[in-house]
Parts: sequence; structure tokens; C-alpha cells
Amino acid sequence: MQIHSSIADLRAALKGRGRVVFVPTMGNLHAGHISLMQQARQHGDTVVASIFVNRLQFGPNEDFDKYPRTFQADCDKLSAAGVDVLFAPTETDLYPEPQEYVVEPPAIQHQLDGEFRPGHFRGVATVVLKLFNIVQPQVALFGKKDYQQLMVLRNMTRQLALPIEIIGGETVRAEDGLALSSRNGYLSTAERAEAPRLSRELKQIRDAIRNGNTDYAGLEKVALDNLAAAGWKSDYVAIRQQSDLTTPKDVNAPLVVLAASRLGNTRLIDNIEI
Ligand code: PAF
Repeated sequence: MQIHSSIADLRAALKGRGRVVFVPTMGNLHAGHISLMQQARQHGDTVVASIFVNRLQFGPNEDFDKYPRTFQADCDKLSAAGVDVLFAPTETDLYPEPQEYVVEPPAIQHQLDGEFRPGHFRGVATVVLKLFNIVQPQVALFGKKDYQQLMVLRNMTRQLALPIEIIGGETVRAEDGLALSSRNGYLSTAERAEAPRLSRELKQIRDAIRNGNTDYAGLEKVALDNLAAAGWKSDYVAIRQQSDLTTPKDVNAPLVVLAASRLGNTRLIDNIEI
């Protein structure tokens, strides 16, 4: 696997490489990322991954400084997964001057996760557009675990007419249902044992809706109450339309249940499609 940190070196390395498939990450890779790398292989000739912990998408009181950086282990995993090229820029490589031109996503950026992480989706969209311009992939893969991120990036790609196919990869879960996430590493042993409750609550909502329950507000409240009773501090549990993440209007619209909740100091997110 080739590793490049400068934009110029990466561009030179990708010349004549055929159909490029791109999987951007912030490192600290787990089986969810590796599954995206493996799927990427099926979509083109050259698989490019990136590792960059993007300061722009972290709020002032978030975990940018303590975000786990495990570069050597990540390289080993990417190499074993058959990734051809890794782009791992430093902050100076990617932001040699303050990033004053940004991508401002529409109103959805202020809802759900955006309500609790102001500026987050602006930071994500800005870095991803920049990475797209650098890597110039034909295909890019993102995990469905960050469901709102996937939707923002899909819409950005469509509205800005970027010639890139966006593919969402299914969430990979531990045996007890916990969605894999780099932030799971922050959990204490007791918190790790408690953590699967989040996915259980989402599944209960899914099952209730499948059985005909349409009291969405009631279902959200039960899940919020159950989480609170077990010591969680929730930002939201929300039943939304898959297409635009607005509240359900069309009775036939496919739905998704999304949640963000804090266990101790760790904020976990998860979602389940119905
Ligand atoms: O999902 C992530 O890891 C990040 O938000 C991304 C897409 C790599 C942008 O920094």
C-alpha cells in the first residue's frame, strides 16, 4: 500500500489508475471501516482510503484532542484489506491556510445531530468536498451509522453535480448489537455492558412500527424514558423519513429511527432503517 501525505504526491500516484473508489475516514479503524474497504474493491480498480481527523467538524468542547489516533495499526488493517493507496495528510497539508471557503449545507444541518453539534455538518461537507477534489474518485463509500452525514453528502454530491457515485455501507455491530464506533473505546467496562441498550431501544421501535403502531411521539418517549431510567442522557430519539430525515408525512415513506445519547462522557449515535 502506498502512503502519501502531500496533495501533489497523491495526485501523481493516482494518474492512470482507472476507476478510483474512495473511503474517507478519521482513522482508529474497526470492522465497520474494513467492511467499507472490502466493498470498495468491488466498485473499481484502485481503492483509496484517507485518514484525517478533521478539526473543522469538531465543536470547541468536543473530543478533537482526545480522538484516538492509531496510525500504525490502521495502516496494517488497510494494507490487509487490500487498500491500494492511503492519503494521510497533516493539518498543514490539508489546511495550509485557514479554510475560509466552506460548504454550507441546508437546514437539515441544524437538526438531529446538527442541533447538538453546531457547525459539524459544515465541517464534514467542507472536508469531504476538498478530499473529493484531491482524490477525484468515481465512487465514494460512507457508513450508514452516520446516517445524517451520508444524507448530507449524498445531497451535496447531487446538488453540486459532482461526478461521484455515493454508496452507503451497512452498519457493522458487535454480537450484542452495539454499533461499532471509534468512540466505543471511551466506554468503561460497565458502560460497555450497558451500551447495547441503545440499539435494543431502536429495534423495539422498529418492531412496534412494523406491527402497525403509528404513535411516533409515544414510541420516541418510551425509548427516551427507558434510556433515562438506565442513566443515559439523550439528545434525541427520532423517527424520520429516510429520504430527507423530516418527520413522517407520507404513510408509505420508508422510515429510519435515529438516536444520540450519552453514557457517562461518551456520546453514542445509532440508527435503524424500517
Ligand atoms: O465519518 C467520518 O469518519 C468523517 O466524518 C469523514 C467523512 C471522514 C469526514 O471527516
